[in-house]
Amino acid sequence: MKKNFLYGVSTSAFQIEGDDGTQGRGLSVWDSFCERKGTVYQDENAKIAADHYNRLQEDLDLLAGSNVNAYRFSVSWPRVLPEGTGKINGKGVDFYDRLIDGLLTRGVTPFLTMYHWDLPQSLSDKGGLQNDDFSKWFEEYAALLVKKYGDRVKHYITFNEPINVVHSSYYSGVFAPGYRLNEWQTMQCLHRMLTAHGRARNVIRSVQGSETGMAMSTFEEYPVCGSLRCVEAAKEKFFQKDLASESIDAYLDPVYFGKYPDRLYDKFPALNEKRYAEDLKIICGKEDILCFNNYSGTPVDEGKKSVSHGSGAPLNAMGGAVDPNGLYWGCRFLAERYKAPLYVTENGVACNDIVALDGKVHDENRVDFLERHLAVVRRLIDEKADIRGYFVWSFLDNFEWLFGYTKRFGLVYVDYQTLKRTPKDSYRWYADYIRTHKE
Ligand code: GCO
Repeated sequence: MKKNFLYGVSTSAFQIEGDDGTQGRGLSVWDSFCERKGTVYQDENAKIAADHYNRLQEDLDLLAGSNVNAYRFSVSWPRVLPEGTGKINGKGVDFYDRLIDGLLTRGVTPFLTMYHWDLPQSLSDKGGLQNDDFSKWFEEYAALLVKKYGDRVKHYITFNEPINVVHSSYYSGVFAPGYRLNEWQTMQCLHRMLTAHGRARNVIRSVQGSETGMAMSTFEEYPVCGSLRCVEAAKEKFFQKDLASESIDAYLDPVYFGKYPDRLYDKFPALNEKRYAEDLKIICGKEDILCFNNYSGTPVDEGKKSVSHGSGAPLNAMGGAVDPNGLYWGCRFLAERYKAPLYVTENGVACNDIVALDGKVHDENRVDFLERHLAVVRRLIDEKADIRGYFVWSFLDNFEWLFGYTKRFGLVYVDYQTLKRTPKDSYRWYADYIRTHKE
């Protein structure tokens, strides 16, 4: 692999940290969502999760044992700013201080995600992304993180999966805080999120040698055959959907090109108002890195129609296809359009893992998944793509949002009764892979 290539693992705060109520952390919209009966599987919550907050040292040692040289984690906004703005929770700030120092002493580069869905409840009470002040709140939060950690953290991801931040949380309502707004209202949420991204980036710029991006999820389309027409059809489908809030180009064109795709100005004439153009100057940041979260692939034919994988095709435990073509083409499409360095910030698979009678977790499907997907990364690098890192989702088994604890993505198994960690076979496989491929 390339020199300085980053091999990492990813997690997010809400999914692993836990909070028994004594840590000074404020509530987030996901805490409240878990309280709504019938929303999360068996009404589970993340009060304990993987108890990472209390097991930091053990987890840092496990991380080091996996040979990774990068770790992507998220800061819980309400842990450092319980009300979202204003008063700081010192214990929360210290926690990430210890985490970052613990990473650096182990030779692991920190990748800090600012927003992995756990919006402070008190800001949601003010409307969250429906409030024009959102970008100011986020800027204040970003400035705090840069002030506290900017001497040690150079890699920043502002928003994890903007499509989920906007569409799933404010349009379809399947994720917290669960709004069902109309298309124009959702478009305005999208715009406020991008403005927040732009403002945060401008703050992060003060950190020497820093880089910033948003971690994009997509619908993973790729051409089912190699014909030019098929590639063009899949590409169009990949970037554009009927809804702006589901379209990759609605999020990334403003960043790299300084404007929304033309069709959105026709659809939402109000976007032509001067204030949007002013915000777009803040949003535009051609030096942003591309960050891509990928889990599957969706073959598309010349008519832009999805093609079935066929019955009996390999599936993950979420019911989705195991299909590395999604990673290959997604990286190509993104890099060709936006011409920026790229990190695969999430890639992984849920499996029905068990601790076997020998006390080990033999997750051979996950090993196979990683082997196939890392082969794609190598192929892209051989084809001269500027890919700089690859992060497995996830380091630890964790709280999988609506699915509670039923879906295991970790390289490390977590027994949710005892909280005992058991490194899976894939953990050792990845450690060996990194050892033999690192230059
Ligand atoms: C996402 C989030 C993660 C998930 C993971 C598995 O991609 O949805 O970033 O928090 O846990 O993707 O579904």
